[in-house]
Amino acid sequence: MKIFLDTANLDEIRRAADAGLIDGITTNPSLIAKVAGDRDPKEIYREICEIVDGPISLEVVGLDRDTMVAEGRKLGAIHENAVVKLPLTEDGLKACRDLTAEGFRTNVTLCFSVSQALLAAKAGATYVSPFVGRIDDISGEGMELIHQIRQVYDNYGFKTQILAASLRHPLHVVECMMLGADCCTLPPKVLWQLSKHPLTDKGLEGFMADWATLGAEL
Ligand code: G3P
Repeated sequence: MKIFLDTANLDEIRRAADAGLIDGITTNPSLIAKVAGDRDPKEIYREICEIVDGPISLEVVGLDRDTMVAEGRKLGAIHENAVVKLPLTEDGLKACRDLTAEGFRTNVTLCFSVSQALLAAKAGATYVSPFVGRIDDISGEGMELIHQIRQVYDNYGFKTQILAASLRHPLHVVECMMLGADCCTLPPKVLWQLSKHPLTDKGLEGFMADWATLGAEL
């Protein structure tokens, strides 16, 4: 399963890239708004694409097909790693079809149902992003959506990759792996939480204490 980092924070991106643990990045307008300040978002997008050599999802902000296609072309031209992210609306699906035909990779986002995921695949999306945590937030079963999309895509041989998004904790990641999601996008905090276990810390403490009794060096 591919791991993407869900952030536009350059320090966090460098930290994870330096560890060699991530396969790509996803951003959205809210994430870029948190970090851009006075900077042109497109400059930050270019910098992200240069830090991580993998798919980097950059989202359009237009709401109609023609504007999305025009913005998608601009975003796609930023770097060869750019993936054009589009909302799962009628216009977003049409723009996805147009941009796919022009050779751009696409990520159809804000997916909350299997029927939406079907249309993303029919529109030729490279990735579909079901938002697990936001379904949980309204007392739904977010992970059930991943399960159902996996089954439907496998039943019909759709090539669109399931990019599980809005993941909030390590158990979400484990469940996505068990269900066969192709990719998970994680906030930096969740990425680093994956490495933590109290028995690792306790075990290491014991090893260090025992080693110290030797007074030796490696
Ligand atoms: O990738 C989508 C993600 O950024 C949404 O996450 O936590 O805002 O629902 P969240």
